[in-house]
Amino acid sequence: MFITLEGPEGSGKTSHIPHLVEFLREKGHTVFPTREPGGTSISEQIRDVLHDMKNAEMHPRTETLLYQAARAQIVEQVIKPRLADGEIVISDRYYDSTIAYQGYGHQQNLDEVRALVKYATGGLTPNLTVLLDLDVEVGLKRKTQNEVEWNRMDAYTVEFHRRVRAGYLEMVKAEPERWVVVNSERDWDSVQAELRKIILEKLKK
Ligand SMILES: Nc1ncnc2c1ncn2[C@@H]1O[C@H](COP(=O)(O)OP(=O)(O)OP(=O)(O)O)[C@@H](O)[C@H]1O
Ligand SMILES: [Mg+2]
Repeated sequence: MFITLEGPEGSGKTSHIPHLVEFLREKGHTVFPTREPGGTSISEQIRDVLHDMKNAEMHPRTETLLYQAARAQIVEQVIKPRLADGEIVISDRYYDSTIAYQGYGHQQNLDEVRALVKYATGGLTPNLTVLLDLDVEVGLKRKTQNEVEWNRMDAYTVEFHRRVRAGYLEMVKAEPERWVVVNSERDWDSVQAELRKIILEKLKK
């Protein structure tokens, strides 16, 4: 079972995953959390380049390709072997982030971006993808107020982040059997409870 969490900045992906992992482990599952970009030595080095505020001159195509390089490595080195061993892998972002940010956000050709993503993942698609959905300004405010990591992607304009959110919602419409949307503007505990319920239901199937 391959589960991915998606959503705009500050929607709660990183803060929810450790609690989901603990919950599923208590139920007896073998669970492995990963994050993108990152999760391998090579991919974490690429993450540093992508997130570094010094790299303001980075072109959208450079950005897109670096994400795919990081992704190809974690798919082959970590995700595929763990799935083959029957583990549950939960990833903090995956290829849908590229379609949302580099595709919709940067307004690049979506078919070209989709082709790159397919190349990077070798076609590995999640069984379940949860969109933690919220007003982008609420999410960005959470990040500044709580002093969590502020990176080069966060610093894009609010209009960019609005296109990202709208892109996610279009992707949900196009592939409703894979996606579940969770309203993450509610209190953290309610969101966590809903995430647990959604994952348990999916595991039962
Ligand atoms: N439902 C919530 N209510 C209030 N605060 C929240 C909620 N969910 C998350 N937060 C807080 O918002 C901040 C950002 O959350 P988190 O880092 O989990 O988001 P993220 O989706 O991983 O963001 P990014 O995409 O930027 O990595 C954290 O300080 C987190 O504790
Ligand atoms: Mg995060």
